[in-house]
Amino acid sequence: MTNTWNRRHILSLADFVPDEYDTVLQTATSFAEVLSRRTKKVPTLQGQVVANLFFEPSTRTRNSFELAAKRLSADTLSFAPGTSSLSKGETILDTAKTYWAMGTDLMVIRHQQAGVSSAIASLMDRLGAKVRVLNAGDGQHEHPSQALLDLFTITSQLDAKHPRISLLADKKIAIVGDIVHSRVARSNIWSLTATGAQVHLAAPPTLAPKLLAEYTAISDDSAQNRQLYLHWQVEPALQDADFVMTLRLQKERMTQHLLPSGREYHQLFGITRERLKLCKPDVKVLHPGPVNRGVEISSDLMDDPQFSLISQQVASGVAVRMALLYLMGSGK
Ligand code: NCD
Repeated sequence: MTNTWNRRHILSLADFVPDEYDTVLQTATSFAEVLSRRTKKVPTLQGQVVANLFFEPSTRTRNSFELAAKRLSADTLSFAPGTSSLSKGETILDTAKTYWAMGTDLMVIRHQQAGVSSAIASLMDRLGAKVRVLNAGDGQHEHPSQALLDLFTITSQLDAKHPRISLLADKKIAIVGDIVHSRVARSNIWSLTATGAQVHLAAPPTLAPKLLAEYTAISDDSAQNRQLYLHWQVEPALQDADFVMTLRLQKERMTQHLLPSGREYHQLFGITRERLKLCKPDVKVLHPGPVNRGVEISSDLMDDPQFSLISQQVASGVAVRMALLYLMGSGK
């Protein structure tokens, strides 16, 4: 495996370049192979400490990072806000400093507020600590590892042996649902538009992003080719789509009534077999989970392996997170 990785922290995908995406895909392919062996462990991060600091509930992401770190032979520490000194008034930055003082090499951070992982990364840099920080979801901002595992899942469908971003040039990808509250959508918009795919967002006006311009006003060269569209109905987004990514209604982030009901949402935006007929015949459906069954996606479709990539996304998560921890950790 080659390692030309120069990035200290992974906080956002906004400034990721095509080579970095391909390095992640290539490295994740190698780790997926490791995970298919009888002995699924490699000594790569032996002696290093990975701390999972999850200030917000999580099933998939937390366990996936923990397993990834263990498969790389790192020592892991995990943190649950309810049983920690946060409940005694300690600040988040002081909590992070405590983990650093204990010898943590990599911090994986999830927090309900945007910017917390960046603040911890800046603190570590200021302290001269060689700690690497990975954003595992910050408020409504970004969730880079989820978008990278989605990218791996999608490109592996097109070429399992050699997933790479060029496979997505001119593919049509629909992202449907609660986009305004979704850090998963925000990170995916960066990664998928960087591949040359056409990305079509579909959301009711109350759940659509307000600042689409934010994504097109970026200054690097790859920006010119970014293709991003917004629809207030689902049908034009689904028409001839190759992949459909559906998102959970983030009720915990809705501060006002933005939707009449889950049932009405399903009628207008839910992904069903009937609606999939608009797409390419071999269309595949993704969902980052957790799913509200029968709301974002019909229950039977969610379980249909002909269309659903949901289990593959979870499985890819471990290989992709091994790749990220490896790329960040082994360059130390
Ligand atoms: C997502 C998250 O937490 O941002 N889930 C995940 O990480 N798999 C999406 C969500 O909560 O809906």
